[in-house]
Formats: sequence, C-alpha cells, structure tokens
Amino acid sequence: MKKYKLNSLLIVVLLMATVSCKDKMEASGETSNLNDAIEKKVSELLSKMTLEEKIGQMNQYNGFWDVTGPTPSTGDASKKYEHLKKGYVGSMLNVTGVDEVRAVQKIAVEETRLGIPLIIGFDVIHGYETLSPIPLAEAASWDLEAIKKSAQVAAKEASAAGINWTFAPMVDISRDARWGRVMEGAGEDTYLGSKIAIARVKGFQGDDLASPETIAACAKHWAGYGFAESGRDYNTVDVGTSTLNNIIFPPFKAATDAGVRTFMNSFNELNGIPATGNAFLQRDILKGKWGFTGFVVSDWGSINEMIAHGHAKNKKHAAELASNAGSDMDMESYAYVEELANLVREGLVKETLIDDAARRILRIKFELGLFDDPYKYCNKETEKRVIGSQEIQDAVLDMAKKSIVLLKNENALLPLKKEGQKIALIGALAADKTSPLGSWRLAAKDSTAVSVLEGMQDYKSNTLTYAKGADLTLGQTVFPLELIINTTDKSEFPEAIQTAKTADVVVMVLGEHGFHSGEARSRTDLGLPGVQQELLEAIYKVNKNIVLVLNNGRPLTIPWADAHIPAIVEAWQLGTKSGNAIAQVLYGDYNPSGKLPMTFPRSVGQIPIYYNYKNTGRPVIPAPNEVFWSHYTDESNTPLYPFGHGLSYTTFSYNNLLVEKISGEEVKVSVKVKNTGNVAGKEVVQLYIRDIFGSITRPVKELKGFEMVSLGPNKDVKVSFRLTKNELGFFNNEGDFVLEPGDFKVFVGGSSETVLEADFKI
Ligand code: BGC
Repeated sequence: MKKYKLNSLLIVVLLMATVSCKDKMEASGETSNLNDAIEKKVSELLSKMTLEEKIGQMNQYNGFWDVTGPTPSTGDASKKYEHLKKGYVGSMLNVTGVDEVRAVQKIAVEETRLGIPLIIGFDVIHGYETLSPIPLAEAASWDLEAIKKSAQVAAKEASAAGINWTFAPMVDISRDARWGRVMEGAGEDTYLGSKIAIARVKGFQGDDLASPETIAACAKHWAGYGFAESGRDYNTVDVGTSTLNNIIFPPFKAATDAGVRTFMNSFNELNGIPATGNAFLQRDILKGKWGFTGFVVSDWGSINEMIAHGHAKNKKHAAELASNAGSDMDMESYAYVEELANLVREGLVKETLIDDAARRILRIKFELGLFDDPYKYCNKETEKRVIGSQEIQDAVLDMAKKSIVLLKNENALLPLKKEGQKIALIGALAADKTSPLGSWRLAAKDSTAVSVLEGMQDYKSNTLTYAKGADLTLGQTVFPLELIINTTDKSEFPEAIQTAKTADVVVMVLGEHGFHSGEARSRTDLGLPGVQQELLEAIYKVNKNIVLVLNNGRPLTIPWADAHIPAIVEAWQLGTKSGNAIAQVLYGDYNPSGKLPMTFPRSVGQIPIYYNYKNTGRPVIPAPNEVFWSHYTDESNTPLYPFGHGLSYTTFSYNNLLVEKISGEEVKVSVKVKNTGNVAGKEVVQLYIRDIFGSITRPVKELKGFEMVSLGPNKDVKVSFRLTKNELGFFNNEGDFVLEPGDFKVFVGGSSETVLEADFKI
C-alpha cells in the first residue's frame, strides 16, 4: 500500500512537471520550434556519447590563423588538432574558405569516433568579402526589406565560403556614442532595433536553415553590453529593472521570436554578476521565460575573464559558474575542455546540464543539415561563382545608397550640378579604398572599396581635382592594433587650400577611419579626429561652398560644422560600393531618405543623450535665469541632430492627424503626407507616443511605428497605423507586460522632434 502510494505520488509529481513544462513551452511557442525527428536523432546520438565527447561539443576553438580577440597563451595549433581528432571540439571560428573548412570538417567527420560535424562560426557582421554598410548605417535606412536582403546576401556569400554560423546580429541598444561598438548595432531605439533584429535574423536564416545558402544567426551580446559605464568597452554595467525590461531585452526577445538559433553572452558584468555566469539572464529569462531552444556561446574568452571580474576564483570555478548559469559553448577559454569533466565527476556540475548543452548544440547542427552532408557548404564551384557576384554587388550598393542621411542642405547646395562645375575633392578619406570597409571586415581584402574619388570620377562632365589635405592615420591600420592618428602634420594643407580656392564647390570627406570605431574603440572626444577640424576651417576661409561628407562609425559632435558648413552628408562606412553610393547621392541620381538611428550630441558632456528620455520632476525653466531645473549651465539639453532626423532633396508636409478608437485597447492613427517639393522622394513617416502617466514613469516619446512612403512631386498619401496593447503597454518591474488606462499623446512626422500631435485616452 505504502509502495503504491509513493508510486502514485511520484506519477502525479511527474505528470505535473511534464504538464507545467509543456504549458511553459507552448506559451513560449517552443513546441513549434522543435522537430520531433531531429529530437529523436539528437537523443540517439547523445546516448552514444561519452562525457568527454559531450563536453567536446561545448568547446569552440579559433582557427589557426586569424584572431579576433586577445591571443590565447594556451592552446597551440597542435593541441587543437589533437582535440579535433578526439572529438573534443564542437565548433571552430575564423576558419574560412572551402578548402580550410573542408580540411577541419574532414577531421571531425572522418577521424573522430562518432563523426560529428563542426559548426563553423564567423563574424559575418555586414557581409563576408563583399561588404554592406556597417550595421548602424544600415539601420539609418529604416528599410527593413533592404536590411533583410543585405543579411541574406551576406549569408549567401559566407555560406559559399564554408561558413554556416554568423555572430550577428548584434542587437545591443546603446545611448552612448563614446562606445565604439555602436557601429555594430541598430542604434539607440528599442522599437527600431527590434524590427531590425527580426529582419537580420530572417535574412541570415531564411525560411530553411538547411538550405546551403542560409546560416544560423546569433543574437548578441546577452545582455547590457551597450550600457558600459562611460562608454568604455567591456566596462561595468549597472542598470535598473525598468531599463532592462523595456530597453535592453526587447530586441533579444524579438530575435528569439523570429527564430534566432543562437545567442552570445556579453563580456560585461550586469548588476554585479558577469553575463557569462549569469543564471538570471541565461536560464531564467532566455531558456526559461522565453523558451529559447538554441544554444548560448560565450564571448571570446569571457568564461576565463570572470576571474579578472573577481567573480571566479580560478579557471575551474569559472567553468563551473558558466556551465551552471547556462553558457553552452566556450569560445576560446579552454575552460570547459579542461575542467568540466572533473566538475561533473565531483558533483559540482550536473551531467544533465551537460546533456542539455550538448543537445542544444547538436540540435542546431541537425537543423543546419550538417549530419546529412557535412560538406554542404564546401563546394569550390559555388565559392567561385557566388563570392563577389553581381547579385551581391548590387545588393550592397542598394543598401549603401539607402543608408546615407542628409543632415543639412542650406540653399540647396546639393545635389551638385552635373556639368560645367569645378569641384575640389579634399580629405584623406576621399581616396581611401580600405576605410569604407569598416571595422568588421575580416574576409574583405584591403583596398577593395570604391573610394569617393573613384565614384565621383564617373561623372565626367565636371572638372574634379583631388587634394588630400592631411593624412588621417599614420603607419599601419590593422584590426587588433591601436590606430595612430595624425595630430601634427599639416604640410599638405597649402595644396588643398590652393585647390579649394578656385573651385565652384568643395567636397570634403572627413571623419573616422574604419578602425576608429568597433570593438575596443571607445573615444572621449567625438569631434573630427586629428587635424581634420583645422583643415575644414582652413578651407572654409577660402571657399564657403563646402559639402561635408562624413565617414564615421558613430554619432560625432560637429557643432562648428553645423554652424558654418552649408551641406552635410552622413555617409558612415558604407562598404564595398561606398564611393558609388556617395557620388550618386551627391549628384542627385539617388535622393537620400536615411534617418538617424542615434542622436547626434552637441558635446560629449551630454552623453548619454537619447530621444526617449524621461521628463524628470523639473523639466522646464521655472523663471528666467533661475537654475532649479534639469539642465546644464554651459550647454543646451537638445541634441545637434535628433533621432529620426534626415532630409531629402524634396520636402514633405504632414496634415490631418486623426485618432480613431477601434476598441478599448486599440486606436487607429492616420495622417496625410505630401511631397511639397519638385522631385520624387522617399520619406520615413514616424509615429511616437507618450503615455502621460504610469506606475512606472514613461519616456517623453517612444517610437511605435514607421512606414516608408515614396511620393512624386505634389503627390500625397494617407498613412495609417494601428496602436494596440503591444505598442501602448510596457513592462512593469515584475517583468509583466501591462497596458495602463489613461491619457496618451501621439506624434507623427519626419523625425523624433515632430510637432504634429493629438491626444487620446485608453
Ligand atoms: C566579440 C564578439 C565576436 C567574437 C568573435 C568578440 O571579441 O565581442 O562580438 O563575435 O569576438 O570574433
């Protein structure tokens, strides 16, 4: 009887556990993600694997040549080969090209006991060999289809070179332009960032992960990396619950819902616990609440770095913390391969957790079709045909044009006339064929970008004279080393001044070198680096007709240029076709439609500056000259160029803003947009809301919808948006998504500073 009772109790408990787990999975959509046939194959394979082989799946090694992080002191090539042969390596990164990938895959498949193929990772951030604009620039297009296409062609080119997994998209929101990695994200806004995260994931992964033209994507860096204190890369992150839930998490959730198959954790600590060893992030939120069924890879060496953080006492402890917290794969720490087996034997890590991690990794390998054909990405003919193909060149050129933002255009200096003009082109970046490739350009060859000089030379009916003016950098410019900026040599100024004197228009290409932003490239001064500001002012003295073309990987502080230079074009680092895209915009063959995805500050002291700030209790000046309000005594609160700003060669008007109630929790907003200029153009119509009061204070504005319209001169269109609970609600501090009844405002226009507004109640 006792025995029967115990058994039935056990059955009830087991049933309850199964049911609640199933409910949880269904609620998160997990069941639809899993394929029964694959799960069966994974289970069969797992049952044959030794503990060491399972841990092997959790071990990722860098290739033998390229290094994208600090060079490891252990793990020489011969040891890596030995581990590969034993089946102690589940993945490699930075092994590229059909020959190299085939060589390592052959060892895994033909020389190991179980022949489990490797998953091959690479930073395909904005292209493989043919580069699109840097991700921040792509975000400036607000064109989700183009962004998806850009990721899709990047996947096609990378997969042709043997790669089946990219460490992208980076979906970290950041409000700090000092942080060099803003170039790799979608900017400061959660709503835009979430939409772009979805577009990128779908672009990389397509509808069928098993297709040889798609690759697994990776949402990174989980989490909070973009909030590094003082914008210094890898620095401490300390953020409150509301910011975590409402600003940082949503793009990751959007990527998860879009089916992203892997995550990468981040280097930073979050509220005292390094992300790599953070069970709240990896187990509770990602794999628990969100039901993520893919795997989490550590960032480069981030398991070991928990020792320096002061969280782990040694490598063994770091491996214990990371695996228990849910980091499934170790990138270049050598911690799992060296320590995990002993940790399991000592009972410090449960073998079920190892099984779970290995299962997640094997699942993705099955989904990629690697078990059906481990060499499916290793076809020499495809490699030759696809890399650099016309389709990819066309897509990156299209993306480059769409990414350009016209910041200022006084007296319609732009577009340039196509004939009869003397144009002076000035600036080292104008002739640079490498810098436009940006920071993440590991597979692109130097000097393969079209320079602005080359792009402008296509317009032959004008006279074009080029003068460098000054070098931007000195010596070698390479990915892992500090840049040396020219801060003294102005010997070539006179020649540039002379060239400018006699020109009708001067085009100056100034800004940051491609390696001036990106990982570990934080800056405290966001002005034009080196002697470029002096050069700009020297040229301005002899010719005021200047078009300033900016190349940069982050917002810059350029108040002098804004006050003096009539036309300013934000051209970021636009990739392989950079010069063509810029020339087409300068000459009006392409009418710019980009909008800033990140606020441009007036000065570094304003940072973090972002459009969706909170009002504070003292938002306005109480009386003339009185100090007791939230402000600076030496600078205004407003940005130089706001989020969402971007001009066109035409103008648009906004009228007839109307809000109609659809139901208790839903409204329809419509507005008439008209092209009031003389040429056809595209406009990103932006909708913002403000929830006037809430149990958690709400920002003064929040982007909740946008739509790109294309209009001929004098044409108009009615644009409508639906606002539902998804747009009107927010996460409270318990992590629940709520819609609180009350007063709202809606704003519609061509930037976050739009003035057309209406009120409604929910
Ligand atoms: C970066 C990651 C990158 C990894 C592999 C790290 O240093 O933070 O974003 O994917 O290296 O190259």
